[in-house]
Amino acid sequence: MEKTYLDILKPDDWHVHLREGDILSRVLPFTYNNFGSALVMPNLDNPVTNISLAETYYAEICRQIPKGIKFTPHMTLYLTNYLNKDEIKRVSNHQYIKAIKMYPKGATTNSDSGISNVIEFYPLFEAMEKNEVILSIHGEVTDENVDVFEREKIFIERVLTKVINNFPNLRIVLEHITSADAVRFIKKHKNISATITNHHLMVNRNIMLSKGIRPDFYCAPILKTEHDRLALVQAAISGNCKFFLGTDSAPHVNSKKIAACGCAGIFSSPLAIPLLIQLFEEHGSLSNIEKFISKNGREFYGMKQQEERVQYIKKSKSINTIKNIETIEGKIAVFNPFKDLYWEKANEV
Ligand code: DOR
Ligand code: ZN
Repeated sequence: MEKTYLDILKPDDWHVHLREGDILSRVLPFTYNNFGSALVMPNLDNPVTNISLAETYYAEICRQIPKGIKFTPHMTLYLTNYLNKDEIKRVSNHQYIKAIKMYPKGATTNSDSGISNVIEFYPLFEAMEKNEVILSIHGEVTDENVDVFEREKIFIERVLTKVINNFPNLRIVLEHITSADAVRFIKKHKNISATITNHHLMVNRNIMLSKGIRPDFYCAPILKTEHDRLALVQAAISGNCKFFLGTDSAPHVNSKKIAACGCAGIFSSPLAIPLLIQLFEEHGSLSNIEKFISKNGREFYGMKQQEERVQYIKKSKSINTIKNIETIEGKIAVFNPFKDLYWEKANEV
């Protein structure tokens, strides 16, 4: 019989960009209403490069969570030369800083402080391995000689393989994987897991480019082929504990995306869970969705399972969906690639 009701452990978002100021206050409710916790990325205009900055940012976020909402922000530090072994040791005992994020310089939004030469950071990787601090990686090379669609593949071959060989016990998350190559790599190696976004599970580069250009689907790493998308879907619906949801929800006002030089990032947190439920349903895999969105990530980060549960219902007619949110700087489009969406959170009826 067709399932029209889903009761699951509250999901977590293991990769989200919340920004600051007005945008933070506009986007945060979609995260705290839909997720029990979220791992907040550090690529602010002034990157979160040390514990003190992460604590200030955490306080700014917490001030805006209404009483009665159970939501935990987990924080990250931006890997730069300013980090040292003592700070890494302090991260290992920190209550809510859960990972250190490595951005290759120039790979994406606010990555100017990113790294150019990975080998320089080996002493810090050694400290992270020793102190059991998780390394979260934006896995793309930024060499202009490498085709944009090959940047993840080449990163895995040239950089990541060396890192895992040198630091076999370093626990790594390869963020927002985009390709069949990445899925294969993650399955093959221990101590490395991966987040997958809604958009890489739901759209491909043809949808972005073949019938006119769709700036709303432009993100980093860039969307790949249908073959790659299907490999990601298989990884997500399999329930394999190495794969979990990180939306990479990354708000940019529409005027900055629909521009001669549009920026990368897709704002997806408002409809992320209903869209995923529908995707898993279409693949006959609703029984595994809880692993992908609620269990596998917590297991990797060594946290006990959520206690709260949430319910979703399937309507007989497609629902009216939110299209944009308003901010001081302008509208931000909400990711929804499906013609019709039938699922919604039970208490939103
Ligand atoms: O598309 C993206 N946008 N990818 C990232 O890695 C960063 C993000 C952003 O911050 O806008
Ligand atoms: Zn991101």
